[in-house]
Amino acid sequence: MKGIILAGGKGTRLYPSTKVISKQLLAIYDKPLIYYPLSTLMLAGIRDVLIISTREDTPNFERLLGDGSHVGMNICYAVQKVPRGLADAFIIGESFIGNDNVCLILGDNFFYGTDITLVLSRAAGRRRGATIFGYPVKNPQDFGVLELGRDGKVLSIEEKPSNPKSNYAVPGLYFYDNRVSDIAKEVKPSRRGEIEITSVNNAYLKLGELHVELFGRGITWLDTGSPSALLKASTFVETVQANTGYYIACIEEIAWRRGFITKEQMTAIGESLKMTEYGQYLMSYGRECVYE
Ligand code: DAU
Repeated sequence: MKGIILAGGKGTRLYPSTKVISKQLLAIYDKPLIYYPLSTLMLAGIRDVLIISTREDTPNFERLLGDGSHVGMNICYAVQKVPRGLADAFIIGESFIGNDNVCLILGDNFFYGTDITLVLSRAAGRRRGATIFGYPVKNPQDFGVLELGRDGKVLSIEEKPSNPKSNYAVPGLYFYDNRVSDIAKEVKPSRRGEIEITSVNNAYLKLGELHVELFGRGITWLDTGSPSALLKASTFVETVQANTGYYIACIEEIAWRRGFITKEQMTAIGESLKMTEYGQYLMSYGRECVYE
């Protein structure tokens, strides 16, 4: 399975912070925002990743993550000239996807929780159809929203409805089979002029091939689209890391735990960052594996 991180857009809701830098390069506590969706893909066992961003920002992502080989990944890059909608990821990424299935994660989405690896592996393991998720929120009107029948079956998905039919938002994490690029090409622009991911999901629903999993309370999903949401996410990461001693979205640690790199490679990266707590964390793992 391949992975795509969509990390473009203008970030206007975060101006002036994002006037000269991509939102996905802003820090969530101690690491750039893009580390979080990247780590989610890694936990799903995905090693081939395409990062799509704007012409201005793509070189910065390349400087940050390179070809990904330092964390045992293959990372490549593509430019989206105009932010014409999330479904565009599958048109831009068509040759990258090739004959594989694909997972799309939005560059500003943050997932954390105990069973997340299990949930991701299950979705990645499905050969046919699409898998999306539902997460209860207080402000469903700001998202794609599930309409659920009495038996819990999904009847439809609506994009930012003014009268949401449930409080289950659809997070920016989607798994698709190889038909997704063809389906995306058929999507007509919505009233806001975008080719919507919700239209792709509704197409799979119509085919009877949409799996929807509802996240329970054990999983945290944060959309980081506003200054207060960014702050909330930073506070969350700081609190969990300080209380447990475990880092969230430490891509080198995940790479080592999943066998993408050796302990020596992880420790060497830690050594080069030893002036930071992040680097010291990597080095302490390499020395003692205290939390294994
Ligand atoms: O966060 C989950 C929500 O993401 C879903 O519930 C919605 O169904 C989905 O449409 C999307 O809604 P947003 O309004 O949050 O999407 P937004 O336009 O903010 O784009 C999400 C990210 O993708 C953002 O970081 C910018 C980037 N983006 C967006 C578009 C439209 C691109 O890179 N290219 C694009 O063309």
